[in-house]
Amino acid sequence: MTPKQQEIVRTTFAQLEAHEDRVADLLYQELFRMEPKAREMFRGDMQEQQKKLMRMLRVAVENINDQGQLQPMLYNLGMIHQSYGIEPHHFVSFGSALLFAIHSVLKEHCTKEVEESWKAAYHYFVLTMKNFPHSEDPVQLPHH
Ligand code: HEM
Repeated sequence: MTPKQQEIVRTTFAQLEAHEDRVADLLYQELFRMEPKAREMFRGDMQEQQKKLMRMLRVAVENINDQGQLQPMLYNLGMIHQSYGIEPHHFVSFGSALLFAIHSVLKEHCTKEVEESWKAAYHYFVLTMKNFPHSEDPVQLPHH
């Protein structure tokens, strides 16, 4: 992600947060339209889930240029998600659903550049949920 893309994600997230219920609603509606079976994975209250998602996105966006903060948090989130039986294609659909929600709320303000910036951010979030860290291996094997 370029610094410009990070900036775009931060500023557009402020606009999205003003409509956070709608963003989350649209995201899960679109996700369940694409992945009807995924609905059964969500056992808790969906209103609560929507709040949790938006809270997590806010923290991720706020720390988008602070990998030290963001990586352990997202990695933990990824570990939690492993227990839900999620398959890789779910992450693809979730990304499309997120972009769909952003598009629906920002409308004409969702330029190609905004779209690309969010794609890059989502890609980064998901990669970090799956492998931690990208840069250095925390476990160093002894040299022989
Ligand atoms: C960047 C992508 C994602 C983010 C930021 C995210 C965020 C979250 C958060 C914050 C929670 C609450 C965890 C807790 O209670 O401690 C959660 C739960 C959950 N997520 Fe995700 N999630 C993502 C992708 C996905 C995908 C792709 C799926 C599969 C369709 C999924 C399915 C679930 C399920 C089933 C739960 C548990 C809900 C329940 O307890 O009822 N998530 N997610």
